[in-house]
Amino acid sequence: MASAVLQSMELTESQFSEIRALVKTTCGISLGDEKLQLVKARLNKRLRTLGLADYDEYINFLRCDRTGNELTAMLDAISTNLTSFFREADHFDYLEQMLKRKIAEAANGKSPKRLRIWSAGCSSGEEPYSIAIVACNSVPDLKSWDAAVLATDLSTRVLEKATEGVYSDERVKTVNPQLRSRYFECIQTRPDRLYRVNDTLRSFVHFSRLNLMGDWPMRGPFDVIFCRNVMIYFDKATQGRLVERFRELLAPGGTLFIGHSESLTSLKHQFRYVQPTVYEKA
Ligand SMILES: C[S@@+](CC[C@H](N)C(=O)[O-])C[C@H]1O[C@@H](n2cnc3c(N)ncnc32)[C@H](O)[C@@H]1O
Repeated sequence: MASAVLQSMELTESQFSEIRALVKTTCGISLGDEKLQLVKARLNKRLRTLGLADYDEYINFLRCDRTGNELTAMLDAISTNLTSFFREADHFDYLEQMLKRKIAEAANGKSPKRLRIWSAGCSSGEEPYSIAIVACNSVPDLKSWDAAVLATDLSTRVLEKATEGVYSDERVKTVNPQLRSRYFECIQTRPDRLYRVNDTLRSFVHFSRLNLMGDWPMRGPFDVIFCRNVMIYFDKATQGRLVERFRELLAPGGTLFIGHSESLTSLKHQFRYVQPTVYEKA
């Protein structure tokens, strides 16, 4: 009986082709041939939850679902959401220096007290909250600024976690203890410690579901865009279009951070290279 159930969950190459074409057109993620087993492992649970016998039934269900809910659930299951607080820490040092320059310009009346940062592909919130910690810590009167961090992701599952803003002891280990006690509340000590992001940070971070392949309702301009460890799943043409859209939304002199394993080198783009993974709108 158990082997019959397992057999019925087989994902053939042609079924995989249909699924990956759908994933590519809807969210830009390119799944290579080698991802068949991974997709199968991640979607088998969906099939069981839905009580479907095999992938033909599942593909049919996806095609007929006019609500788009199953597509969202499928993308949730397939996408990789690995993240951490202060991941790729040099970006946050760079941000701190940038903010210091911005404070000086605002003090001289050269620029308004306005700050807009976008975390595109924010996963479960560690990245935008790290940005907000740096902003709160570097700009003493941030409350008097028109400041906001927009944090978007495709996955509703990670956005729920991000909005909740509750993290285990293990997750907050990469936050400096001083900053942790300033910006987190310990809400549970037993059986395990749990920390909740405090209201000061929350007031600056706004989460929203946004597919980077779709329309973008926001107008910008942004001073900084973080799009780290997201484009790695897209093909070159998709990356090129995305990077150009980021450039359009950045203020002149605005900064784009990409992940440490990513590069714009092989793309046609109009950014000024600052240092590895840091680019500026000329
Ligand atoms: C590996 S995580 C990176 C999180 C964070 N930026 C970091 O570097 O720690 C990639 C995130 O990109 C999101 N993502 C993938 N494709 C997307 C798309 N088309 N639109 C919006 N978000 C997308 C995934 O849901 C996932 O949460």
